[in-house]
Amino acid sequence: MSMAERAAPPRVVAAERIASEAGFTKSCLPEVGRLLRLAAAAKPRGVIAESGTGSGVGTAWLHSGLGADARLVTVERDEELARRAAEVFADDDRVSVLVGDWRLIERHAPFDVFFCDGGGKRDDPGTVVELLAPGGLLILDDFTPSAQWPPVFEGEVDELRLFYLTHPDLEATEVLTTPSSSAVVAARRR
Ligand SMILES: C[S@@+](CC[C@H](N)C(=O)[O-])C[C@H]1O[C@@H](n2cnc3c(N)ncnc32)[C@H](O)[C@@H]1O
Repeated sequence: MSMAERAAPPRVVAAERIASEAGFTKSCLPEVGRLLRLAAAAKPRGVIAESGTGSGVGTAWLHSGLGADARLVTVERDEELARRAAEVFADDDRVSVLVGDWRLIERHAPFDVFFCDGGGKRDDPGTVVELLAPGGLLILDDFTPSAQWPPVFEGEVDELRLFYLTHPDLEATEVLTTPSSSAVVAARRR
């Protein structure tokens, strides 16, 4: 059995089934999911946020690490996906699935964990950092590993990745999630 094949929490399985039925192919990988679970577990009374719910796979991984006194808020602009993802968490009032633009989650900030996966990451990175609480953890998925500094993607300096990795308010690093994908993980200093 590979690392990726280790048993997933039941809600992750349910959200993956919704993705499969909807033909949605952008759910996070289990390797990323375990990182999300770790981050949520590190903030047991925290506000845990996600932009881009998709079918709820990342949400379900975050939920699997959610403390009894924590809250999880996620937002998705695709109404049908959001509706179906919300069904996965309908029995847990710690979880809110919002429908609309990612900025709807701003009113729930500051965030102790922010999985910024659909809205914000590319279009407003400055606000993404500002939404973090001091010590808050930011997780950004879907990078292609670069052995160079500054990081390069498709032959060009990856300015977005550089922004996060060198932001003065962040302690940030890039971690391999699979041999061909990476995530930026950061903590807000102040
Ligand atoms: C990479 S997928 C999310 C996967 C999910 N986070 C997971 O881990 O399974 C990105 C999602 O973000 C949504 N999205 C993109 N831009 C958005 C925005 N501005 N506001 C809200 N949702 C957005 C897309 O509809 C898509 O479902």
